[in-house]
Amino acid sequence: MCGIIGRVGRDNAVPYILKGLECLEYRGYDSAGVAVFDEKGIIASSKTVGRLAGLREAAEKDKLNGFVGIGHTRWATHGGPSEDNAHPHFSHDRKFAIVHNGIIENSNELADTELEGVGYNSETDTEKVVHLLSKYYNGNVVETISKVISLLKGSYALGILCTDYPDTIFSTAMSSPMVAAKTADCGFICSDAGAISAYASEYYPVKNGEICVLNDKKIEFYGNDGQPIEKAAVKIEVGELTADKQGYEHYMMLEMLQQPNAVRDTILPLIKDNAICLGGVDITDDYIKNELREVVIVACGSAYHAGVVGKSLIESMGSIRASAEIASEFRYVDPLIDEHTLAVFISQSGETADTLAALRLAKQKGAKVLSIVNVSGSAIANESDNVIYTKAGREVAVATTKAYSAQLVALYALAIRLAKGNGKISSEEEKRMTHELAALPHKIQMTLDRNIEKAEIYAEQFANATDIYFIGRRLDYATALEASLKMKEISYIHSESYAAGELKHGTLSLIDPGVPVVALAADGEIFGKTYSNICEVMARGAEMLVVTTDKNKELIAEFENTFIVPDTLPQFTVSLQIVPLQLLSYYTAKKKGCDIDKPKNLAKSVTVE
Ligand code: AGP
Repeated sequence: MCGIIGRVGRDNAVPYILKGLECLEYRGYDSAGVAVFDEKGIIASSKTVGRLAGLREAAEKDKLNGFVGIGHTRWATHGGPSEDNAHPHFSHDRKFAIVHNGIIENSNELADTELEGVGYNSETDTEKVVHLLSKYYNGNVVETISKVISLLKGSYALGILCTDYPDTIFSTAMSSPMVAAKTADCGFICSDAGAISAYASEYYPVKNGEICVLNDKKIEFYGNDGQPIEKAAVKIEVGELTADKQGYEHYMMLEMLQQPNAVRDTILPLIKDNAICLGGVDITDDYIKNELREVVIVACGSAYHAGVVGKSLIESMGSIRASAEIASEFRYVDPLIDEHTLAVFISQSGETADTLAALRLAKQKGAKVLSIVNVSGSAIANESDNVIYTKAGREVAVATTKAYSAQLVALYALAIRLAKGNGKISSEEEKRMTHELAALPHKIQMTLDRNIEKAEIYAEQFANATDIYFIGRRLDYATALEASLKMKEISYIHSESYAAGELKHGTLSLIDPGVPVVALAADGEIFGKTYSNICEVMARGAEMLVVTTDKNKELIAEFENTFIVPDTLPQFTVSLQIVPLQLLSYYTAKKKGCDIDKPKNLAKSVTVE
């Protein structure tokens, strides 16, 4: 997952490219580079390892200036973060320069079969592509691109410059996002329409195998057979990408505090007359009762953790068999699904490669596909039979918070709809649940207000930890999964989530005096069991932090460190319990001086497998 932007116009493209790359850094920030045609039609470039500030300095030092250029911010796949591996990459005659998002899976094979004897300046798969362009160049760039992409396997979105056409950017894509836009006096290619929403009001998706030719006078599209294609423009959702933290130090803090609104904006449109109404989603009572046999929820990372909650509720409320699957595993196990399966794909970005590939597999097997997505017009949304949009707004911090909370309530709505359709809950029970759902935004706000200061205080202790354990049972375990990921991905402290009852089967050996253990203990029905597990770890010297609800707080009065969240229905406690643990992770990472919004080695949108 890298970010690409290119601009053609009648003024210096470099400032626009640098600004656009700032909006695209969520896609990767190991290194960055920009290439432009100078006044002699030669391609000049600057590159840097690390963040964009370095590229800005390098471009100024190199006096980079040109009307047509391409830029790239990288998340390293082939070859570590280095200046040599930073894009753009050049053919040896410097006739071609390219930037690439994706993975060329047969790049080594191509090096052996097509590029014998060619020397390389980098370890990247991308560099093989630019040498292939040079090798097959016949004066017609569209034909050359068509020939080269016929050799490629894997995923790519490419921005290409050729010195024979110094007023033009060429672009093509396969299973990697790329859009192109043309205004009266300029044009863009970009990995994400949101990053050009300040300049263009509509864009053209560059679809698989298509080739785009863009200069400041025209935009043209060709099929990989070289024939022209007519395309319809898509309106850019205004304000999709604001590079503005509204006064907060980090996007993550802003986005945690936006959770009440994100949840409200997601759930209210799904409630009508005290009942769940999934809008245009084609799931009828008849389908639920007579066709549906199982629900398979597939996602990655935090979206998968939300799916674990969804699985639990669909089974417990609706008596419908359900499973939660990790997308990168699901797609390779030949899953036993068919036309009686509802396959649910959860993705904030809507671009996660493993989730998209799993969706395509589910469709091949005849499953009905429903996705829960936060970005409209994203690949996963576009390829789904039905979509429930979370309305969390643009999420910039790599560590998801508001989008995860919005995914939870979308899953609550789906679980209630399926339970009602399967005749397992009454209209009265549905009404009670929808009323509690409508109250959740306020209760999340209460949870934030009640625990933000404690989280900052507790973080002092956690910041020195080398290992942290999050334990719980049932939905509390699902919360532990997400809490552990939040902690490790931004504070870089090793942490594990564990089913509380499972600890004594091995991991208990790791609990030594002073090891921090966070116990999720909201599930009143089995509180006693979780309490026993707390005692087990305390007996080994663990430093406890216990999370529970108002109703159980007397039961944990003995503990010094606690987060207490408001009472809600047992099915919805994850939405409240996760909030103080997001805050704890944030303050722990802050205490350690970590890069909270852009943690090392990660990116916001994982569009590679
Ligand atoms: C969560 O904080 C991470 N950023 C990561 O696990 C993320 O949830 C995962 O990569 C899935 O992303 P998606 O929701 O955009 O598909």
